[in-house]
Amino acid sequence: MRKLFVIIALILVGALLPSARAEGDFQGATHMVPFDEGILNYNKAAVHDAITDLQAFLDGKEATLEFSKDHGYLDSVLAQLKIPKSSQVLVFSKTSFQRERISPTTPRALFFNDDVYIGFIPGSPMMEVSTADPKLGAVFYTLDQNTEHKPKFTRQDQCLECHASAKSMGVPGHLLRSFMTDESGVVELNSGISEVNHRTPIEDRWGGWYVTGKHGSQPHRGNLIGKEAFADETKKPNHLGNLTDLSPFFDVTRYPGTNSDIVALMVLEHQTHMHNFITRLRDETELRLSAYGHIDYVTNIAESFLKYLLFTEEATIKSPIEGASSFAKDFARLGPFDRKGRSLRQFDLETRLFKYPCSYLIYSKSFNALPEQIKSHLYRRLYDILTDKDHSPDFAEIPRKTKRAILEILAETKKDLPEYWRSAQRAAK
Ligand code: HEC
Repeated sequence: MRKLFVIIALILVGALLPSARAEGDFQGATHMVPFDEGILNYNKAAVHDAITDLQAFLDGKEATLEFSKDHGYLDSVLAQLKIPKSSQVLVFSKTSFQRERISPTTPRALFFNDDVYIGFIPGSPMMEVSTADPKLGAVFYTLDQNTEHKPKFTRQDQCLECHASAKSMGVPGHLLRSFMTDESGVVELNSGISEVNHRTPIEDRWGGWYVTGKHGSQPHRGNLIGKEAFADETKKPNHLGNLTDLSPFFDVTRYPGTNSDIVALMVLEHQTHMHNFITRLRDETELRLSAYGHIDYVTNIAESFLKYLLFTEEATIKSPIEGASSFAKDFARLGPFDRKGRSLRQFDLETRLFKYPCSYLIYSKSFNALPEQIKSHLYRRLYDILTDKDHSPDFAEIPRKTKRAILEILAETKKDLPEYWRSAQRAAK
């Protein structure tokens, strides 16, 4: 009996290993953080995110959101929050809160910008929202899709049942998965990856998602619905790849856009994990500062954070990628730019996602709100890495030219860098 138990345990561990290896985060990154206790106090602390601002505006006398027959408040919310419609991506797996409403014929649309994510299902009585609060991490809301009352975003903590787990780095966070589904969108467990980010190989991505845009000969799991489609994929790779029209699958006119843009998906995958990591790093720092008064025990997490920030383990793009919507243009336009017109939002899409691989979330409110002690540690390490003073193998593969360019872009565009960044910059000229 005991032998059998050991064998089963070994099989289980074996099944877990590949995903554990694929995740390059620090050891213990999936452990839960006591985010609702003591100094972190997630549920009671004041929220200062994009939704509290929008709600304050809506509580004003004159202001309201426009309601449309097809999308309810969606278009108006996207406009108010400056979320481009081109960011639309579509998920058809029954993996989330309103799973009974989601299917390959009524996928759930997600829209996002740097600090808000919106979930919309045609015909659903509510819209779902998650934000990146600078001090708390992900905060969740719903908005009723009817005009009986003035629009009111309601904070929802039951969302944490899924949104605070090992799959969101143990903090209230964002989720992305890739699984095989049957014809109705029901997930085949053990058929995929429960935490997709920029390290996930392209061929493992997008199970349960629609994907539009070009990606040449490299295969992926998008647009594959049911066992047969997956079986055909092994015989004829990409038989549903490189799509630009989803109308054979469902009624695309029920959505604001017609795409599930490949570039938007790739940015979303980078961004959700980056947001979770910022939250995790902040929580760990706050806890250590309150217990010991210093951040010495957080420096290994900071190294792992820097690796993700600088895309060191990013999955290689094997054929050039081209989006189907205007997302790439809309996103790149946001800058900020240095005097040479360079920016961290410039895409590469030939072999990697970005031309200058350092996350644009370094400009975000969430990054800026990290405790000063950890921020100055990160800035020092970043400076040493980018100026080649650092010789750790983790960063050795970033070409010298790329490091130099990132250093110059940051020195010109990131306002709160320590003075030594700018004096070195002047000396180099
Ligand atoms: C049953 C688990 C589950 C519950 C409960 C849940 N979600 Fe999610 N959510 C997911 C998964 C999984 C994803 C990833 C996309 C997908 O597979 O649909 C996701 C993605 C999202 C996204 C996209 C960005 C992000 O933050 O990951 C939003 C927005 C979102 N959920 C809002 C909510 C809100 C609001 C609630 C509560 C009212 C909620 N969710 C409850 C599983 C859940």
